[in-house]
Amino acid sequence: MKKNKNKNKKTKNPWPTKEAMKQVYEMNLWGTNNAQFYSGEGSHHPEIVRPYLTAVSSFLMGFKKPITVCDLGCGDFNIGKELVKHTDNYFAVDIVPELIAHLQLTYKEEKLKFFCLDISTDDLPTGDCVILRQVLQHLSNIEVHNILNKLKYFKFIILTEHLPNGSFTPNKNILSGQGIRIKKQSGIKIIAPPFNFQVKEEKQLLSNKLSENKGIIVTTLYTVF
Ligand SMILES: C[S@@+](CC[C@H](N)C(=O)[O-])C[C@H]1O[C@@H](n2cnc3c(N)ncnc32)[C@H](O)[C@@H]1O
Repeated sequence: MKKNKNKNKKTKNPWPTKEAMKQVYEMNLWGTNNAQFYSGEGSHHPEIVRPYLTAVSSFLMGFKKPITVCDLGCGDFNIGKELVKHTDNYFAVDIVPELIAHLQLTYKEEKLKFFCLDISTDDLPTGDCVILRQVLQHLSNIEVHNILNKLKYFKFIILTEHLPNGSFTPNKNILSGQGIRIKKQSGIKIIAPPFNFQVKEEKQLLSNKLSENKGIIVTTLYTVF
């Protein structure tokens, strides 16, 4: 009888992103704050959140006529809830249905709408500016590629990514889920290969160096056209 040579070989089958993200919240894989949904320290630590809100609020308030923002992968909305007031409309999107149902009950404002969508496969709401905060870092390159294809229709992108300290090889592929590229000494850089996302201008808004050599959280404003 022929032996199956690959019997003991470990193969990693990608889990659907929706299931992976649901599990993150159900099992508090990004920690907990005694809250039903918790998007992690990056969404709550005052030293990370405060400067981010200052920089992004100032950008949004710089427009004579408030603009429409699409917050893609809005998470527990600890960040987004502070930005709504500076916009004309605020569309907050996440892949986890239970999280979106919770946010719809918790935050009610006329200009604020929540959508449960997979931003990699579904059509996005339209707007002037995309906020993508610590989302791409969790997704495989094919999903990042699909998302970037839709971002060319927005004038501005405010992208936040957790990156390794120092120099690194960008955009190594990972399976989508709780983890990020930092374990491979990599991180997302959308204007680098294989994405080569085309922009008119790139401006770093802020960066936070994390303690214990845990990397750096960088927020970049891209003007697309
Ligand atoms: C680390 S959290 C960041 C949350 C929020 N942006 C913040 O900075 O506080 C990443 C979020 O992206 C969402 N997400 C991941 N993949 C997604 C996808 N394909 N479509 C929509 N949301 C997604 C997750 O469910 C999670 O809520």
